[in-house]
Amino acid sequence: MLKIGVMASGGGSNFKAIIDRIGEGDLEAQCKFLITNNAGCGAVGHAQTYGIPVYHISGKTHPEQAAYEAALLEVIDKYGVDLLILAGYMKVLPVSILKRLPDRVLNIHPSLLPKYGGRGFYGIHVHEAVIAAKDKESGPTVHLVSEEVDAGRILGQRKVPVLENDTPAELAARVLVQEHDLFWRVIKEYGEQVLKARV
Ligand code: GRF
Repeated sequence: MLKIGVMASGGGSNFKAIIDRIGEGDLEAQCKFLITNNAGCGAVGHAQTYGIPVYHISGKTHPEQAAYEAALLEVIDKYGVDLLILAGYMKVLPVSILKRLPDRVLNIHPSLLPKYGGRGFYGIHVHEAVIAAKDKESGPTVHLVSEEVDAGRILGQRKVPVLENDTPAELAARVLVQEHDLFWRVIKEYGEQVLKARV
């Protein structure tokens, strides 16, 4: 069975959507842990509801970079996960983690990459930029995480219309609905490939 670990910083609606799909049996996987850099975030509550172990690892808990990276690696190695899922994780992942899990770290981004990706394009800023550019469509992208931010291989995308008088918040909400339906499907499909490649 596919083993995943999740990292999240915020509300955790993507994390919840994934563990709900696991709970429903749509996604055959086990979620082994949640790592967060924000102990008070919504994702922690969802993990507790499902009895998923939570690890708070951040610049506050581990002020030295080497200790911070070692703490992340300790959790990842302990559970031996097949995939690490970034579900609204707002920090750039250290290269040491990417090297430990090559082509095994997935992220979701709320724009049609390669548009509106990279440093500075996060959260509501993404949707503000889409509206300012008068784009007619937007939508989420699931991609592999590489050293360059938001530039890894694209595994899945969904398109939604940008409506005439959309506010960034309205567009974000429309994109988020699709994120919830896209992410688990990509995890399922890519996870099957990963498991096959292992045997
Ligand atoms: C999502 O919009 C995702 O694309 C981005 O961060 C947001 C996380 O939302 N990476 P949530 O915490 O899953 O609700």
